[in-house]
Amino acid sequence: MTNLDLYAKAEHLLGIEEATEALYDLYRSELDEYKIKTLLDVGCGRGGFMRRMISDGVECKGIDLSAVMIDECKAQNLDAEWIDISEVEGKYDAVVAIFDVLNFLNHDKLLAFLDDVAQRLNDEGVFIADINTRYGFSDVAEGTMSSENEKEFLSVDAVFEDDELHTKFTLFLKNEDGNYTKHQDTIIQYFHKMKIFQTLEGLKLADKQTFSLYDTEDKTLLIFKKR
Ligand SMILES: C[S@@+](CC[C@H](N)C(=O)[O-])C[C@H]1O[C@@H](n2cnc3c(N)ncnc32)[C@H](O)[C@@H]1O
Repeated sequence: MTNLDLYAKAEHLLGIEEATEALYDLYRSELDEYKIKTLLDVGCGRGGFMRRMISDGVECKGIDLSAVMIDECKAQNLDAEWIDISEVEGKYDAVVAIFDVLNFLNHDKLLAFLDDVAQRLNDEGVFIADINTRYGFSDVAEGTMSSENEKEFLSVDAVFEDDELHTKFTLFLKNEDGNYTKHQDTIIQYFHKMKIFQTLEGLKLADKQTFSLYDTEDKTLLIFKKR
């Protein structure tokens, strides 16, 4: 199991449904003014945002680097592929990267990723993404939690140091024989300074809004236009 697949298996135990819904509402209302017909959802997860946009009449494609996530999208008949953004064909009216996706990329990967996004936008296209603020990492994300049900036990231990959040996931899954199998891996998230987003060749930062998802000013929404 890759670390992203472990995250996919653990996500429902994190208690983030409400925050996810709030983010979807925000993205949807921001996209409203653009009257888009096509959308690429990068890091689409289980496809919740695509389902919403499809019901608004938007043609959606999702990609994610977790095969577990993509399998769940496909089971719901969503157009989803387990590929990197550099492999996506065609162009879209809008691209989104919802709920920390940019924080999964280190500085160099982020720059390449943003270039790939720009190349997949139609003229006048819009790219919307959110990132965690430094406060969001140091005061909200850092710490430990655990969660369990009859078949699963999860513990999460996150440490923020040198602008990186290292989150160790330990997941015990109950087998049919009653024994548990332990899965453990770490996901690194990177804090990004705003400066990175202000000097991109292919994308112009049109707007940024710092807002509160779990706590005061823990996230920033970034809205880019294709240059
Ligand atoms: C916190 S989840 C959010 C999922 C979804 N956007 C949502 O709002 O429910 C982050 C997702 O990004 C995916 N991911 C991480 N790095 C990625 C990359 N470079 N390209 C595509 N997906 C990526 C992970 O597998 C995971 O599904």
